[in-house]
Amino acid sequence: MPKGFLPAVAIVALAAAALVWFRPAPSATVVDVTVPALSAEARRGAAAFAAHCAACHGANAAGSESGPPLIHPIYEPSHHADGAFHVAVRSGVRAHHWGFGNMPAQPHVSDAEVADIVAYVREVQRANGIR
Ligand code: HEC
Repeated sequence: MPKGFLPAVAIVALAAAALVWFRPAPSATVVDVTVPALSAEARRGAAAFAAHCAACHGANAAGSESGPPLIHPIYEPSHHADGAFHVAVRSGVRAHHWGFGNMPAQPHVSDAEVADIVAYVREVQRANGIR
């Protein structure tokens, strides 16, 4: 083994460990979400959410790099009533709470689907202490 090989390996290993140790923390806007047993309506909503909303709002509405978590005190019913979901999907949302930019309107999502999505988000919110 060439002289200096082991120290070199040690340095590379330490550098790799440091990279893992100091890697940026996951975005603070992605939250831990517990998914409860869902009602039939909320199960339909979960499917619609996965199809139309999760790309930005994340799996289980936990947030992603592209949009905020909806399982968050900001979106509790007293601050964002069910109607806010219908308006958001119909008309889009101008960025005001976060730094993700505007939410585009989602005209391909029906009112019935939004109602199911609201049922889903509310059931998951309640299971996570947001009411
Ligand atoms: C292209 C990304 C994107 C998609 C797709 C998307 N959203 Fe959003 N949404 C956002 C962003 C970003 C915000 C936060 C805007 C802010 O307040 O800064 C937001 C905010 C919201 C809000 C809060 C509205 C308010 O009044 O503050 C609701 C409710 C919402 N989204 C629901 C949904 C639902 C339901 C779907 C699926 C049908 C969906 N979004 C799809 C990006 C998206």
